Amino acid sequence: MSVAVIGGTGLDRMPGLTVDRRLDIATPYGTPSAPLLEGRFAGSRVLFLARHGEQHAIPPHAVNYRANLSALRQAGARSVVAVCAVGGIAPWIGPAQLAVPADLIDYTWGRAHTCSDSAEVPLRHVEFTVPFAERVRRELLHAALAARVDIYDGGVIGVTQGPRLESAAEVRRLKRDGCDMIGMTAMPEAALACELGLEYAILAVSVNWAAGLGSAGIHAEIETAVGEGIVRARMVLARALPALRAQEGP
Ligand code: HPA
Repeated sequence: MSVAVIGGTGLDRMPGLTVDRRLDIATPYGTPSAPLLEGRFAGSRVLFLARHGEQHAIPPHAVNYRANLSALRQAGARSVVAVCAVGGIAPWIGPAQLAVPADLIDYTWGRAHTCSDSAEVPLRHVEFTVPFAERVRRELLHAALAARVDIYDGGVIGVTQGPRLESAAEVRRLKRDGCDMIGMTAMPEAALACELGLEYAILAVSVNWAAGLGSAGIHAEIETAVGEGIVRARMVLARALPALRAQEGP
């Protein structure tokens, strides 16, 4: 069994990963965003998948989430750390801050969001009360503590359709709904992981204040924060992935 990383904005490549094999995997849902990279990171075996493709050309609503998650499972993944860029709503999730959300609200629409939709796959109503795997969340939080990287434990991620950013009124609504941060890719990714029996958690990297909450322009904020946020995320991954791998079977 392996540990997998799905890299999002800012992490289309994984510096420090020594690639042994590029796996072109066909799934019943088509091909994943990119070949899976199998290799070593921080001394441990990992699988890496660039969610938006190696050229960062696939927008959030067009990602083939079903093929991505199926391919990871076919390649032997048991746990998945999904790195997601987010906009911060809660005051403690400002640019370059990391978080490991505990819950989500799905605002996406029109995405192929289940594997339970054909005669070949028995209909299952998967339980989604707790959408993220606590074992994976804990390892991310322990790793951040050990690496002395500030990380927020918890919060709700609202998942919007994109690729446009939100209006200020939409962000006020998301805040009233209880969202602490906003991203565009956690759904249907988290739900499909659940259907496929993968232990999935998000390492959220805040790259901007959500619309209407910051004083700088959002794109200027993203340009400044993304590099620093991803450096911190890699420090966390370098400890979390070997720890997760050590818990998994051969
Ligand atoms: N909104 C939605 N998704 C995002 C944002 C945002 O402000 N920043 C990064 N991903």
